[in-house]
Amino acid sequence: MVMNKEMMDALEKNNIVWLATASNESTPNLVPIGFVKPLDSETILLVANFMNKSFENLKNNPQASVAVADISECPYQFKGTVEIHESGKYFDDAVEWAKSVMTQLAPKAAILLKVTEIYSVQPGPDAGKRVD
Ligand SMILES: Cc1cc2nc3c(=O)[nH]c(=O)nc-3n(C[C@H](O)[C@H](O)[C@H](O)COP(=O)(O)O)c2cc1C
Repeated sequence: MVMNKEMMDALEKNNIVWLATASNESTPNLVPIGFVKPLDSETILLVANFMNKSFENLKNNPQASVAVADISECPYQFKGTVEIHESGKYFDDAVEWAKSVMTQLAPKAAILLKVTEIYSVQPGPDAGKRVD
């Protein structure tokens, strides 16, 4: 449930994570997300700039899974429940971050993934095993 320093560093420095969501009908949806960083050892921030199906899915079904693109740096799958912040401090900080990178960005929400499960995806005997 708690991310270690290596996991948090990988999330901080990786350019892209893959975000998996699911619709009410259980249709999976996978997208690359660049604006991502750990806020603390149990929380991953994702900024919703262009999320469309992902955003709808999360509003209807707040379960999500994330893995960093450079899996050799961080061979883990993070799962949890999201909080959607469309105003307030998390939202304001997300807007400031996005605009500092690209002025034309206008985030619709800060998505906070509260990590509840971490699994290894490392090939071998630990593949798929829960690590927290
Ligand atoms: C390199 C890259 C980085 C991206 N970063 C973000 C991001 O930080 N936030 C975001 O909302 N969408 C981002 N997108 C767009 C999403 O991948 C996706 O196109 C968007 O969520 C719409 O798909 P959906 O309707 O399935 O959600 C990025 C796309 C690429 C290719």
